Amino acid sequence: MNAPTDLQKFLAAQERKSLLRFLTCGSVDDGKSTLIGRLLYDTKLLFEDTLASLEKDSKKFGTTGEDIDFALLVDGLEAEREQGITIDVAYRFFATDKRKFIVADTPGHEQYTRNMATGASNSDLAVILIDARKGVLTQTRRHAYIASLLGIRHIVLAVNKIDLMDYSQQVFDGIVADFQAFAARLNFSTQVAIPISARFGVNVIAKGDETPWYKGPALLAHLEAVDVDTALADKAFRLPVQWVNRPDLDFRGFSGTIAGGRVKPGDTIAVAKSGKTSRVTRIVTMDGDLPEAVAGDAITLTLADEVDISRGDVLADPQARPAVSDQFAAHLLWMSDDELLPGRQYLLKLGTATVPAQVSALKHKIDVNSLDHLAGKTLALNEVGYCNISLSQPLAFDPYKDNRDTGGFILIDRFTNATVGAGMIDFSLMRATNVHWQALDVNKQARAAMKGQKPVILWFTGLSGSGKSTIANLVEKSLAAEGKHTYLLDGDNVRHGLNKDLGFTDADRVENIRRVGETAKLFVDAGLIVLTAFISPFRSERRMAREVVGEGEFLEIFVDTPIEICMQRDPKGLYEKARAGTIKNFTGIDSPYETPEKAELTIRPVEGSPEFHAQAIVKYLRDKGYLG
Ligand code: ADX
Repeated sequence: MNAPTDLQKFLAAQERKSLLRFLTCGSVDDGKSTLIGRLLYDTKLLFEDTLASLEKDSKKFGTTGEDIDFALLVDGLEAEREQGITIDVAYRFFATDKRKFIVADTPGHEQYTRNMATGASNSDLAVILIDARKGVLTQTRRHAYIASLLGIRHIVLAVNKIDLMDYSQQVFDGIVADFQAFAARLNFSTQVAIPISARFGVNVIAKGDETPWYKGPALLAHLEAVDVDTALADKAFRLPVQWVNRPDLDFRGFSGTIAGGRVKPGDTIAVAKSGKTSRVTRIVTMDGDLPEAVAGDAITLTLADEVDISRGDVLADPQARPAVSDQFAAHLLWMSDDELLPGRQYLLKLGTATVPAQVSALKHKIDVNSLDHLAGKTLALNEVGYCNISLSQPLAFDPYKDNRDTGGFILIDRFTNATVGAGMIDFSLMRATNVHWQALDVNKQARAAMKGQKPVILWFTGLSGSGKSTIANLVEKSLAAEGKHTYLLDGDNVRHGLNKDLGFTDADRVENIRRVGETAKLFVDAGLIVLTAFISPFRSERRMAREVVGEGEFLEIFVDTPIEICMQRDPKGLYEKARAGTIKNFTGIDSPYETPEKAELTIRPVEGSPEFHAQAIVKYLRDKGYLG
């Protein structure tokens, strides 16, 4: 047996050192780069020297190959990249004798909340930089609030450029008092303020003589010593299943990265959603079986019983199960230039599960300056809101404060695939488990059979004045003449009743169509042929209306009249007003219309009379078997 080489000893020592992940936030000129540069330069130089000599040793002795694998030092970052939030966050690694560090450097430009959220979701501590000349700014408060929202419990207030204020204790004390007045409400566990000059290296790596009145530690000493106590391994066991590993008939394992707690062969686990339990038989890894695995380990578990488990399920401690629900309350940080539209469907990614979801209610927005709650219908870029979210199916999760991995989620735009929001779950809303579907004896099929037809929604979409209502009317008349059972939902009419509280902002249009879609679904359930005539300008909501009913129960009919013709016709004189600016958000003028991509039928009113098109639609219905 060879004695361990110096390199092996060195790497083993690195592994044993605790890891502190921290985040730096500051505005553009606060001196963030100088500070990080200094930390890296003064610590890493030493570190690299050591490595260089060790590397030579390792080549000489040839025991570990030529590569020094830093992957083991920066583990975990890959998983985050997989989440699709790859943005402007630079991670840097450095180490001292006492600790190793990963610092997430997030740029200060206007998309900073997005970058900050990415960096913060993995960090234990935030260093908030303040320019001593400027004091506490809105930006400072915003950074502190977002850090606390993202679960960071430890904060360092680095009051930089104190040299430019003659190392004045009075200036420092004033800034600290200011910050504390705000941060007291954010419940940080530790909060340390340090006067520094990143430029001259005062109180960064070592204490400087310039601030004899400052009795606390230098920044690095504090970072080395602060106890962040992030023992994920002490939390309840959670394994979000990434995939079911089934190479052959004899082996069936459940693979993923442990998001909390520990597990041993012999432990009983529960499948969060179904409640089924089984016993762990093996913990399989690339390097052989393990006697125990802890949070952060990527493993494959085998179980004693055949249990139904698939990707997105969470295996959990049966004594401390996660919540399972299709509704929860959460803080939501909006990261897109397009505002959040409550009611719109987004994809929600939580752990290894991805499901359609919508913000069912925006309770309030949060003013990050005062922490006041503001009323609001939407969230704009960088805004934070508190909302209820409803999912298309139940998921297992924890409150974010208990586990950032199983309690944090992102929202993804269904068309662009961009990450548009990051959320932190507060608690589960139990409505879903209390309301059961009534199993009715007279069902949709029975009602439709009595009427001798197949229920369907004929969804007319097109610009105002395109001819939707006229043609829908004629189709209904013709069907009624054949004795078919129909109902026509028309934009102008519904907006006088059911939707009279809604206007024409994007958010209101989304809600308009959501309600119409749900109403049409009920009528389909009643066995009717439903005709709807709404501009319905957004693809997302037309798709949602399509998806609330079954296959073949939704026919999209694009009434394709060019806007010039609609303007010429202008039956209600609205285009004229819109162009004069007296009506705002008018579709086609200053509000978008997203042309259908996969309409079942496209009709061009300029190429034939309304009667001609109506008959073509009735024929289509007959040919497809809707009319019995
Ligand atoms: S939708 O966009 O939400 O689907 P909907 O079809 O209900 O619109 O209502 C459109 C009708 O409202 C138009 O035909 C027009 O008569 C009227 N209207 C009033 N203001 C507007 C506006 N700003 N944009 C579009 N339509 C408007």
